[in-house]
Amino acid sequence: MSDPSGVSHPLTAATTVAGVIGDPVRHSRSPAIHNAAFRSCGLDWVFAGWEVGAGGGAAAVEAMRTLGLGGLSVTMPLKAEVAAAVDRCSGAATTLGAVNCVAVEGSELVGHNTDGAGFVASLRAEGIDPAGRRVVVLGAGGAARAVVAAMAEAGAESVTVVNRDEARGRRAAMLAGDRGRLGTTADVAGADLLVNATPVGMAGTPGLPVPAEVLEGVAAVADLVYQPLETELLTEARRAGVVAIDGLGMLVHQAAAAFELWTGRPAPVAVMRQAADTGASSVV
Ligand SMILES: NC(=O)c1ccc[n+]([C@@H]2O[C@H](COP(=O)([O-])OP(=O)(O)OC[C@H]3O[C@@H](n4cnc5c(N)ncnc54)[C@H](OP(=O)(O)O)[C@@H]3O)[C@@H](O)[C@H]2O)c1
Repeated sequence: MSDPSGVSHPLTAATTVAGVIGDPVRHSRSPAIHNAAFRSCGLDWVFAGWEVGAGGGAAAVEAMRTLGLGGLSVTMPLKAEVAAAVDRCSGAATTLGAVNCVAVEGSELVGHNTDGAGFVASLRAEGIDPAGRRVVVLGAGGAARAVVAAMAEAGAESVTVVNRDEARGRRAAMLAGDRGRLGTTADVAGADLLVNATPVGMAGTPGLPVPAEVLEGVAAVADLVYQPLETELLTEARRAGVVAIDGLGMLVHQAAAAFELWTGRPAPVAVMRQAADTGASSVV
């Protein structure tokens, strides 16, 4: 199968169309991941991408209804707009006020947030159960908030948020209830799991989100950044003998959860990871 789109069957008027909306969206890995999954399951589905900027979320949801799309992935800057536009939100999407996946459920368009569950699944795939762990999350944006809520739900002993903007950090920590609190970089050293949910380490924002010395006392480090796959943080973690988990696992597992919501079938996770890895090696 040499078609780089990942689509191998003839598209017809009966093909179910799904896709990702957001801005930027042109370099999204989601089409490669989902088209590989549809192909592997023999489904007559295709996944595309539409550049929709701020203010376009409600119209995109209406378009989904009108055109009979099978599913939507939602990325920046539309997650809150889409949460307000769908017929109803699931538990995580309601808690976070953010939707990353819209599914058709009967006559309703339902907003879900699969980021947190995807992150937990990516940890479990690496043999790490968050239950009973002391977790430190760097950042307080959309990804961090999903992780904080998911860590608490998965039974973490404590969830400490470290963020530049302290008020925002405190609000994110509240998503973990009485196990959440705002902390500082000094809290990192005692963590069972350190999660980088800032963009520091991304191509274009190089560097370390915390000084390398504090990693010595950490048991595991997960970086949500996946471009590049091997961030400076992960390199330093490995150098310190710390378990290091890249951000592609979360990307794949949140997509797998979306696939299951849309199709009602178990997701072919290994196929999706392979498609994401191929994309990772072909995107600078
Ligand atoms: N692997 C995956 O599937 C996945 C999914 C979602 C996101 N991500 C990645 O996660 C990262 C965060 O995404 P997001 O959507 O949560 O972004 P976001 O909503 O813009 O939040 C970014 C957070 O990082 C902090 N931050 C930004 N620049 C910083 C810097 N130079 N130093 C320290 N802190 C900084 C911000 O702090 P302030 O509050 O102080 O501004 C904010 O808390 C991105 O790299 C994104 O690609 C990965």
